Amino acid sequence: MILVFGKTGQVAQELARRAPDARFLGRDAADFTDPAACAACITDDVTAVINAVAYTAVDKAEDEEALATVINADTPGAIARVCADRGIPLVQISTDYVFDGAGDAPFTPDAPTAPLGAYGRSKLAGETAVRAAGGPHAILRTSWVVSAHGKNFVKTMLALGKSRDRLTVVADQIGGPTPAGDIGAACLTIATALQDAPDKSGTYHFSGAPDVSWADFARAIMSQAGLTCDIADIPGSDYPTPAERPGNSRMDCTLTEFVFGIPRPDWRMGLGHILSDLPE
Ligand SMILES: NC(=O)c1ccc[n+]([C@@H]2O[C@H](COP(=O)([O-])OP(=O)(O)OC[C@H]3O[C@@H](n4cnc5c(N)ncnc54)[C@H](OP(=O)(O)O)[C@@H]3O)[C@@H](O)[C@H]2O)c1
Repeated sequence: MILVFGKTGQVAQELARRAPDARFLGRDAADFTDPAACAACITDDVTAVINAVAYTAVDKAEDEEALATVINADTPGAIARVCADRGIPLVQISTDYVFDGAGDAPFTPDAPTAPLGAYGRSKLAGETAVRAAGGPHAILRTSWVVSAHGKNFVKTMLALGKSRDRLTVVADQIGGPTPAGDIGAACLTIATALQDAPDKSGTYHFSGAPDVSWADFARAIMSQAGLTCDIADIPGSDYPTPAERPGNSRMDCTLTEFVFGIPRPDWRMGLGHILSDLPE
């Protein structure tokens, strides 16, 4: 039986659609501020674990790095040690924020990491803890997660696009918007593959294609949603945030396709599904 940590997040909800027989643990059953209690949730009937829990408040993390580190690193580390002891695979979702966003070439999984802020540091510490446990694992780095659930860029743009004629959106940060449903499907494929082939353990990238700027992504959202809101390009420096954002979030996903046969999903198709999933 597959155990998923998380129930209410974007990826967890999409996993629930695709793996209705898996066991999903929400905050009430597995509070990630308590590493030992979460590790104890991995019962003998569990055959693989997917961690869809994270402290994802990027700006707030600047003031709460200790808490973010417990949730994003200490608890995944404790879970990874139990998985390693049992020899069962763990899929740990990570982020493009482990990189500094320099240049314009896609980051490969073995590219040097250098997070710009507290959230990225906490997620990188999580990667290190999962690797150190030494069990079958995949660290699946993704980017710009979108879905019909929770808070994300698509939902923000739709809400603003319905009430405004014109919006300014950052045009000098480039990345791959990634539908949460595709991440969920990739996690399931990888968890299953690692059961048979633990030697496929490692760090992988998975982001939607094609790479775009936030501004171009916003234009695509307005267009697919039939909204007439005009999007004007601005530089990131005109939209200051407590945590610095990477300019380049392009990720080279070649290895993921080569090892697991999972290609980059086309976010334009995923966006259509998200729009049809949303209530009118
Ligand atoms: N969102 C992005 O753009 C993005 C980009 C790159 C990578 N990622 C990574 O992708 C993965 C999934 O992200 P997502 O967008 O699905 O995140 P999300 O929607 O923010 O969901 C995070 C989940 O973590 C849970 N959680 C937070 N603190 C917890 C705690 N102390 N104990 C138990 N549960 C707790 C939340 O539960 P509650 O609902 O109870 O708060 C929620 O279910 C994460 O590893 C994230 O770092 C996300």
